[in-house]
Order: sequence, then structure tokens, then C-alpha cells
Amino acid sequence: MDFSTKNAKPEAIKIDCVAVVAHTGNKLSTAAQQLDRASGGHLSRAIRESGFEAKAGTTLMLYGVPGATAPRVLVIGLGKAPRVAPKDFRDGVRAAGRALAESGAKHAALYTIDAEVVDRDQDWAALQTVSAMVEAAYRFDALKSANAGKSKAPSGITLASTDRIPKSLAANVARGQALGTGINLARDLGNLPPNICTPAYLARQALDLGKRYRMKVSVLEQKDMQKLGMGALLAVAQGSRQPPKFIVMEHRGGSAKQKPVVLVGKGITFDTGGISLKPSAEMDEMKYDMSGAGSVLGTMTAIGEMKLPLNVVGLIPASENMPGGNATRPGDIVKSMSGQTIEILNTDAEGRLVLCDALTYAERYQPAAVVDIATLTGACVIALGHVATGLFSNDDKLAEELLECGQLAGDRAWHMPLWDDYQEQLKTNFADMANIGGRPAGSVTAACFLSRYAKKYKWAHLDIAGTAWRSGKEKGSTGRPVPLLTQFLMSRAGW
Ligand code: BES
Ligand code: MN
Ligand code: ZN
Repeated sequence: MDFSTKNAKPEAIKIDCVAVVAHTGNKLSTAAQQLDRASGGHLSRAIRESGFEAKAGTTLMLYGVPGATAPRVLVIGLGKAPRVAPKDFRDGVRAAGRALAESGAKHAALYTIDAEVVDRDQDWAALQTVSAMVEAAYRFDALKSANAGKSKAPSGITLASTDRIPKSLAANVARGQALGTGINLARDLGNLPPNICTPAYLARQALDLGKRYRMKVSVLEQKDMQKLGMGALLAVAQGSRQPPKFIVMEHRGGSAKQKPVVLVGKGITFDTGGISLKPSAEMDEMKYDMSGAGSVLGTMTAIGEMKLPLNVVGLIPASENMPGGNATRPGDIVKSMSGQTIEILNTDAEGRLVLCDALTYAERYQPAAVVDIATLTGACVIALGHVATGLFSNDDKLAEELLECGQLAGDRAWHMPLWDDYQEQLKTNFADMANIGGRPAGSVTAACFLSRYAKKYKWAHLDIAGTAWRSGKEKGSTGRPVPLLTQFLMSRAGW
């Protein structure tokens, strides 16, 4: 998909589709008014007669509007005028992306960057529009036979304006495209079946990205993990025929002495629960249990594309969680890389086991901050549903920073407590801690477990069990929280 910017009259632009904005009460934007005048009032009449209401997230496609050069006119509802709510803007451009992807228009011009958005500037509007277009063009059909039909998404998008377009906008167009590419990679990895997307597959992806973006990538093998004493990670992996991989990616965009931000992504490529076997209904969805890893690879892609001037390390402990003759038993006690011992009372609480060793490994970078991302608990889905990511942190400023970036990116998180009171639930008579804390506050006790391995730096944990994918008719990976993470790193780089 190619992007460009252009100052142009909407009625005269030579393109397959021109998209203009309308607001609540069918108030027309400047571009829409111009088009309406050129059409002799046809546009406003057509809008009225179709019964269209320009609510955010609704669109209306019109054909053969007189006075317009473009054969298609898409009206994008953006909600309240004159100043649009950020969420309405995002809902609007996403709906526009969907409408365009079905329209068959090869090249479309959108006048969305002329909208005034509350607390956001034109750069934001451009980035959001572009990433929404890239996301809307996404399809996962590589594994369908050839007759699945070709994508009809446009191959060219022009961000158009009735005003002069500042030169600086181009940078945000490129960033929006980079973000969309990262999001779509995360979605691909999530959607791939677990017989293809194995730990080794994730490692190959990381190596490919390393080549493309000149990042240093190394993959630690089982024997390396043994040497490091990663007993918790290895306990998860030992029931599987797929060898575990520990992936290390280094994006060196900042100065040599700048401390890196470390991202740690849970990479369970399939979670059966192990000996504490999960019920079989919907178990296929546990292929998404590597979405934390997917979001790290997606974010590394986005910042690689952007050439972000910041040092960022990505760590991915990748493994399957399978039952088998050699699998970990409930009751087994293992020693983590930190030296702390863990009684594994439930082999289905495996995410924290692979993450804790990765968190200890992260110490060697003396990181500016560590953020781990994991489809960690069903309890988080119960608490926050599919709307907000659960955010836990040992540093309130870092938490605040992430919350704000989530708002800005339209990829929101909600701050959850990490009080010492909850640590009690991890007590056991037989080891330093148990790997489960019982049913109450399940997402909190999981975070409490991780906090014991993140004492040496500022750390945040994102539980994305509810936000990384959708089930039902629209089943598939969402690419969250790549937008939040990318925004976080961009802000840290001063962008
Ligand atoms: N991968 C799951 C968490 C999960 C569950 C994500 C449902 C998305 C939807 C995780 O490994 C897990 O099994 N967690 C257990 C923990 C429990 C045994 C303490 C859970 O949430 O039930
Ligand atoms: Mn599990
Ligand atoms: Zn899991």
C-alpha cells in the first residue's frame, strides 16, 4: 500500500474514490461541503434520503455523484463536530478502511486529516488514518486454497486536504505505515496454527527481522538455558517434542551508553495446560498464547521500520506446554534462574514460569525499564473483558506513562493493584513460592509472582489475555498491544 499527501479539491481529484467526512446531524466537513456545492446539492440530498446518520463508525458509499471526478464518494461518519473525540476519529477511519477494502477502488483519497480532534494534532490524525488503512487491508488467507479470492483493498491511499499540508506530516504517514505493518505481523503470528507457529518458527521470524532491520538477534537453545539455570522455563518445555527457544533481539537506535527498554513477550506457542490439562472446548484458542511474543516481534518491526532512535531489547521465552511422559507434574519443585524455588502446583500456570526466567535474564541489560506482555490469566478476562489490557507495575510513574500511551494509541490499559497483601496467596510449605495463588484475584497473584523476579529495575506487566484476540464470528488476532508499546517507545525517543 502506497501513501501520499495532497492539497486538492475533492470534486476535482482524479481518483477511484474520494472519502469526505460528515458529523452528527449530517453536518458536512469543509471538503464535503465543497463536494456538495460542486454536485449541486446532490451529496447532501443523497445522504438525507439514504437515512444515513454520520455517527462515528458508519460510512455511506455513493456512486456517480454529479460534479465529482471520482466515480465513488465515501462519506465517513466521525461523530460530534466541530471537535471530534479521539475514539470517534479512530472508529471512523477504521470503518472507512473496511468500506474501502470492499469497494474495489484501487486508489482512494481521504480528507480525514482536516478533522479537528480533541487534544490531538494533525500528525496524530495522519498516523491513525494510515495505520487504520494498513490494518483494514489485512487478511489471513495464506492457508486457504487459491479460490479464497484476492484482496480488494486499495493499493494507494492519498491523505488529502483542502488546506496546505505541512511537510512534517510525511514523517507521521511513514510511522503510521510502520505501525500498521507491525500490528499485522503480530496478527499473522497469532493467527498461524500451532503446528506451524512453533518456538523454532518464532526464532526464525526474529532472525529474519534481525536481517531486515539490522538488529542483533541470538537464539539460546535448551543447553544454553540449562547453563543459565533457567529451571522454570525448562520445566514448562520438558513435556514437549518441540525444543524451547529463548530469543534475544537488540535494536540499537540510541547512543551506546543509553540504557535500553526491555520488552519480554510470553511465547507459549500452544498451551494445553500440561498435566493440569485444560478442558477441550475451545482449546484451539490457546494457539494465541504466544501473543505476547507476537507483540514484541510486531513492535520490533514497527520501530525497525521507523528507525526509532532508542535502544530496545526484545526477549522471548518460547515453548509449548504439553502433557507427556516427561512433563512436569503438579507438585514438582524447580529452581528458577534467580535462585528462588517454585512449587508447580498447577502446570497450566506456565506463563509466569517462562517469564520469570526471562525477567531474571533481563537484569544483564541494566534496563531503563522492563515491560512484559503476556496472555497470562483467564482471570484478567473476567476482570476487564476484551476492552482493557491489565496493567501492573512496581513503579507508579511507569504505569502512568503506559496508561497515557495506551490512551494516545487507542489501545487502552487499566491499572490494577499489586499490593503486598496479595503476595500471601503464593505461600507454600515446600518451596519459596507456589506458582498459583488460588481463585481470588487470579490476575493479581500472577503479577505478584512475576514481581518477585523484577525487583532490580522498573517493571510493568501487561496481561493481554482479553485483548490480544477476538473469538466468535470475528475470530482472530487483534495485534494488541503493538499500538500501545510502539507509542510508549516513540514517546521515550522524544517523538
Ligand atoms: N494462557 C492461559 C491464560 C488464558 C486463559 C488466556 C484464557 C486467555 C484465555 C494461562 O497459561 C493459564 O492457563 N492460566 C491459568 C492460571 C491458573 C491455572 C492459575 C488460568 O487463567 O486459568
Ligand atoms: Mn496455561
Ligand atoms: Zn498460557
